[in-house]
Amino acid sequence: MHLTDTQAEIKELARNFAAAEIAPHAAQWDREECFPIDVARRMGELGFLGMLIPEEYDGLGLDTTSYLVALEEIAAADASAAVLMSVHNSLPTQMLLHFGSEAQKEQYLKPMARGELIGAFSLSEPDAGSDASALRCQAVRDGGDWLLTGTKSWVTSGSLADVIMVMARTDTPDARRGSRGISAFIVTPDLSGFHVGKKEEKMGLRASPTVQLTFDGMRVPDANLLGEEGQGFVYAMRSLDNGRLGIAAQALGIARAALDASLGYAEERKQFGKPIREFEAIQFKLADMGARIAAARALLHATAASKDRGESTTLYGSMSKLLASEAAMWVTTQAVQIFGGYGYIKDYPVEKLFRDAKVTEIYEGTSEIQRIVIARELYNSYHSI
Ligand code: CAA
Repeated sequence: MHLTDTQAEIKELARNFAAAEIAPHAAQWDREECFPIDVARRMGELGFLGMLIPEEYDGLGLDTTSYLVALEEIAAADASAAVLMSVHNSLPTQMLLHFGSEAQKEQYLKPMARGELIGAFSLSEPDAGSDASALRCQAVRDGGDWLLTGTKSWVTSGSLADVIMVMARTDTPDARRGSRGISAFIVTPDLSGFHVGKKEEKMGLRASPTVQLTFDGMRVPDANLLGEEGQGFVYAMRSLDNGRLGIAAQALGIARAALDASLGYAEERKQFGKPIREFEAIQFKLADMGARIAAARALLHATAASKDRGESTTLYGSMSKLLASEAAMWVTTQAVQIFGGYGYIKDYPVEKLFRDAKVTEIYEGTSEIQRIVIARELYNSYHSI
């Protein structure tokens, strides 16, 4: 894959940072279900939390490919670190950048781009996952404020975030407007009525805190309404178009780590008097693993380039996320098989990679949702990349 000099430097920076400050601790964070906030702060200092924000808002103003290669490197070391980086860069900061007022950019976007404030994104609810526009969290006007009441679920980084982009209904029960009845609000944990609820105990990405949030008449100033009332669902969908590129890069990082581990193990491990890499059964697995990763990465990078040319990423972003996440699940499954019994225990890295891979087929739109989006877009806006 050809990278420009700048992209290659960023990849190297991310790889070195991940090798020194993330990879050695990833198994422990997974075991203890904790992600040290200092690591997020370090990511901020190095610019990894403001990669797509223009310099005028204190970001690095980099191209999308630079961001995705850095994210792949972080994910290869630890998928939990990567999801914090992906959500922060792709969702709340992009919503502020594209739809926020200058005052909101000054107050929230700039410190987020510097990595001083961590961002989260809150769309899903217990009964509104794939059917996101069925969300029920309600915002009602109260004087110059809004009062928000409801429960949000599956909020990545929700317990450590400083700024959470929350989608809530602003239509009324007697005049429901579907997806057009949803607005986006900038929520901070200091608001009265904000509560962090249940922390989920997950199969993978165990270091990344996934929580419920409950709002109990939470008072949100009108100044924290993002953009136009009733546009929150469209803002969220547009941001998810970008978010899905980040999750594809995360999936590729997980898959690549599994391939690297498998290549090493197949060389060391001897059975029947020779390294198992000399058996065709293993060679074919390694070959298919490499081919699937390369294909998914090629599509992702082509999509990143088309995004930077100003083209829509709805179609190819969904395709990239679908192919990369399914490649990650398939590749990590093969990796566990190559390791055999050793792949099933925690002494080797592939057991964690296998667990971490699964969620990439679920969050930011399940594989089934990606197929719905792709099928619709083939009719609406299919064009060759
Ligand atoms: N860009 C811009 N606008 C879009 C859009 C996009 N990609 N997708 C939809 N819209 C607009 C539509 O044009 C439509 O506008 P109009 O009212 O003007 O017609 C409006 O949004 C409603 O769109 P749909 O009718 O298509 O809405 P729908 O209810 O049928 O849902 C869906 C479409 C694709 C299924 C959507 O609900 C969806 O993506 N679901 C999955 C939700 C999801 O990805 N959740 C992820 C949670 S976040 C997360 O996981 C982050 C994390 O922490 C890791």
